[in-house]
Amino acid sequence: MPIDRILGIETSCDETSAAVIHLDGRRPVLDSLIILSQDVHRIFGGVVPELAGREHLRTIGPVVDRALAEAQIGLGAIEGIAVTAGPGLVGALLVGLMYGKTLAFQLGLPLIGVHHLEGHLFAPTLELPDLEPPFVALLVSGGHTLLLDVAAWGQYQLLGRTRDDAAGEAFDKVASLLGLGYPGGAALERLAKTGRPGRFRLPRPMLREVATGGPDRFAFSFSGLKTAVLRAVQSSADIERDRADLAREFQDAVVDVLTEKTTAAALELDRRTVVVCGGVACNQTLHDRLTERLAGIARLVVASPRLNTDNAAMIAAAGAWHLGQGDRSGLDLEAFDSGPLPGMLVSEAQN
Ligand code: KG4
Ligand code: ZN
Repeated sequence: MPIDRILGIETSCDETSAAVIHLDGRRPVLDSLIILSQDVHRIFGGVVPELAGREHLRTIGPVVDRALAEAQIGLGAIEGIAVTAGPGLVGALLVGLMYGKTLAFQLGLPLIGVHHLEGHLFAPTLELPDLEPPFVALLVSGGHTLLLDVAAWGQYQLLGRTRDDAAGEAFDKVASLLGLGYPGGAALERLAKTGRPGRFRLPRPMLREVATGGPDRFAFSFSGLKTAVLRAVQSSADIERDRADLAREFQDAVVDVLTEKTTAAALELDRRTVVVCGGVACNQTLHDRLTERLAGIARLVVASPRLNTDNAAMIAAAGAWHLGQGDRSGLDLEAFDSGPLPGMLVSEAQN
């Protein structure tokens, strides 16, 4: 019997989220999505794992109940449970996993553990039901930066990834250097809008490799860029005057690198669709630059901000695909803090 109505649960970091989706044929349709962001970490300038786990434990029940209520269904209408198994903070993941397992056991439902990054890849399918591979995907979040060739769902060829900091992590660290709160990506984008372009000149890390076509042409590195901002902040005579211009130049540097590598990948692999996902995909400047650069090359697909930052709807969508493939997790499903996407091919050069 097909599994048509799925409850998704996501607790990998500092969002407690639950969602209900149903399938219309093979297309996922969103019935409800609840995302509760944990504010407690703001005062610490980063996520405190112990506190994240405790907050999830306090809120997971009401968040799931609310998702069911908004979908106007009871637990009895759910046919499958999809839950993030990793990567993420293990103490945070365990809360969602135990909740999902308990429901699956109690209701006798199929359970599927979802890789968080595969969830990000599926997010746009909730708004663009005809989205099908093949496509090139740029996955840019707080913890990861990957350029992938997606030949089919479940088949992910790694083209390149970051050597050090993730793009979102760089946004957050630079935001903190410039005195913005945590997480600072969105605030940095707002500040950059008021900055003058080109007043500072920061490096475009590993951009040269695109032109030379070397094995690192799709690899990223953002930690040197962050250090360059730190030096500029330290040597500024008037940081109040320079803040917005620095934010502007930092964002331009990141966007240049992401745009050029993604475009080069679409051209080289002859893909006509490019998907950008993960929290940094909320960045409108990145969106605009990619739209411009990909004109006549590929269609750009980016989900709404609510579906690009961490949420359970994307987990339910990826889980629905796996359940449809006949994949199942046992009640011995474990949480993991890191690990490759299921079905990801990595070439020698990337190791
Ligand atoms: O995917 P996500 O919600 O969580 C992870 O799986 O990591 O991504 C969060 C990241 C944070 O680093 C945040 O600063 C960044 O996405 N972000 C942005 C913007 N909105 C969120 N970065 C740049 N510009 C934005 N507008
Ligand atoms: Zn994420």
